[in-house]
Amino acid sequence: MTIDTKILSALRTAASNGVGGAELSQELGISRAAVWARIEELRSLGYEIEASPHNGYRLLSVPDVLHADDLLSSLGHMKVIGRDIQVFEETTSTNDVVEKLARDGVKEGVVVFEEAQTKGRGRLGRKWISPPRKGLWFSVLLRPQLSPLAATQITVAAATALFRAIHAHTGLDAEIKWPNDILIRGRKVAGILTELSAEPDKVKHIVLGMGVGVNLVAGDFPPELRKQVTSLRIETGQKQHRAELAVRILEELDRDYACVVAGEFEALADEWEEHCTTLGRRVTIQVGGRRIEGTAESLDADGALLLRTQHGHLERIIGGDVTVEK
Ligand code: BTN
Repeated sequence: MTIDTKILSALRTAASNGVGGAELSQELGISRAAVWARIEELRSLGYEIEASPHNGYRLLSVPDVLHADDLLSSLGHMKVIGRDIQVFEETTSTNDVVEKLARDGVKEGVVVFEEAQTKGRGRLGRKWISPPRKGLWFSVLLRPQLSPLAATQITVAAATALFRAIHAHTGLDAEIKWPNDILIRGRKVAGILTELSAEPDKVKHIVLGMGVGVNLVAGDFPPELRKQVTSLRIETGQKQHRAELAVRILEELDRDYACVVAGEFEALADEWEEHCTTLGRRVTIQVGGRRIEGTAESLDADGALLLRTQHGHLERIIGGDVTVEK
């Protein structure tokens, strides 16, 4: 934990009671002057911190920026995801940054956020719009002991975590569209891009990328997409606190990942099925050059979709572009 993480954590715990400079200096093992210097630095980043002789330091408000120390100080004890957090102002894609960390041998659990991505990508080679400070654009490095066929479990776990966090943070009723879209009132608000590096029988690592449209307004989307996409701000009519939502998502994700690792995927699959509006519907799925029509029946034990085709066969589908019939 860095000094700033410890200071922010102490300020959060003390809340309106405040925490004294002497107390902080003793707890952190640094001089009172050094505590003051760190407080000044945090203020320069936009943290509103009151200093009074009676109450000591009190955290009054936090800025709408993603700050690794702040996110770490807000997280509870994390088993894996969020043990390390890195925030960049702008790079190409968080999936690229995490892929590089994976190749450098970094431990699983690291999370990389970017305030903006210049080459954010979605599934099937699509572009992912990632304007500065309007959303949560992040990726997580995972090294689960799974077979490549079971890697879909990670996408399902990410979808349930996102679904839960969005509901808890905004009260909005989201729905899941197979395989990995989160929709609100039929419009996409978040997506998941799972990129896999694997040997024939085992996963080497997974880069789990997640994009959540938090504070985008209609003008942030290209006109041709406006009917299909939305943001939490558009849906609630209120600007949302990105860092608080990020913390909630990481906590839910850590919990869900622990379930997958413990072989308890079934509980997640049940939750996913409960909120997935694709199931029971007639769909057309484009898988590469192939178009398959049928009824989406259920998930299998690895998170793949079981589709009853118009000829009565059950097909196992692990990815593709889904169109749900109205
Ligand atoms: C999709 O729905 O098509 C998946 C979208 C995934 C977007 C996220 S944003 C963070 C991460 N970095 C990327 O370039 N893409 C994912």
